[in-house]
Amino acid sequence: MKKEILRALRETDGFVSGQELCSRLGVSRTAVWKNIRSLQDEGYEIEAVTNRGYRLAGVPDIVAEEEVGSRLETSRMGRQIRCFSRIDSTNQYAKKAAEDGAADGMLVIADEQTAGKGRRGRSWVTPPGETIAFTLLLRPKLSPDRVSMVTLVMGLAVAKAVNTLYPLKAGIKWPNDVVINGKKLCGILTEMSAEVMHVNHIVIGVGINANMTSFPEELSRIATSLKLELGRDVSRAELIAQVMAEFERLYEKFEEDGDLRAVSEEYNALCLNAESMVRVLDPNGEYTGTSHGINALGELLVETESGQVRNVYAGEVSVRGVYGYV
Ligand code: BTN
Repeated sequence: MKKEILRALRETDGFVSGQELCSRLGVSRTAVWKNIRSLQDEGYEIEAVTNRGYRLAGVPDIVAEEEVGSRLETSRMGRQIRCFSRIDSTNQYAKKAAEDGAADGMLVIADEQTAGKGRRGRSWVTPPGETIAFTLLLRPKLSPDRVSMVTLVMGLAVAKAVNTLYPLKAGIKWPNDVVINGKKLCGILTEMSAEVMHVNHIVIGVGINANMTSFPEELSRIATSLKLELGRDVSRAELIAQVMAEFERLYEKFEEDGDLRAVSEEYNALCLNAESMVRVLDPNGEYTGTSHGINALGELLVETESGQVRNVYAGEVSVRGVYGYV
């Protein structure tokens, strides 16, 4: 019920009467009041004025179910939310929940991860109160070789959400790092459970450096946060809700076609490796070339000096800029 109360309070700048809340939610005044008190205990500033009602005056930066849920405008992504103040890894939790039958679209969010996982077996730092760490569970009708495309869709959703909410220019380093001013803002780790021809479920884990102001020594040259770029804190719940909205829109197109043909233009417009020189770290031999962005399968098209265009498949190789990370 707290989610609905917050949603109602958010919809108006002024006061919402107690009576209106009661009839909208179909509950008693006492129930409304109890929930308002509980929200105030969680840090929400809710003014209560006799004969006028309630007004939302301040919102804490928490990643609680009602805070994210009351901002969601999606019909599928994040309709079921699990929030943890501390957990080992949201991907780990989502995988276990998926095996136990959790629904498509379930969103798992943590304020802190004690064993956050990055790609290539690396760890992912998630200190409390500062970062965004969430995992979305999907049960797509896809063959396993198409799963990496979903990760590109999520990268695009994050970049779009950042650019919509803030005066920043986030771009994508192929395949799915979100980057601002040459530094990494967000990483994505997708894991799947699959048979040879069929995917049981996938979990897409997203880590966004939201309000961090410092990084471990080895990351400080290549990582940034929204707070460092904007000079102010951001609402983590607002950004999560915006990512869900963008992802739902893009994923619908992807599902319809089974590939990225309908979203590749949007992706390439934000792809920092498009129309630039790249170094392809292929285990069979490193080479450089001009990247022309992705095709409908999410492969990066790299034109070598001899004029040959090579399709680089995510997962096989890494790509760097000629002069550095991007
Ligand atoms: C990368 O190495 O770039 C990917 C990092 C992915 C981190 C996120 S945080 C939420 C989710 N849970 C995890 O354990 N990892 C992902």
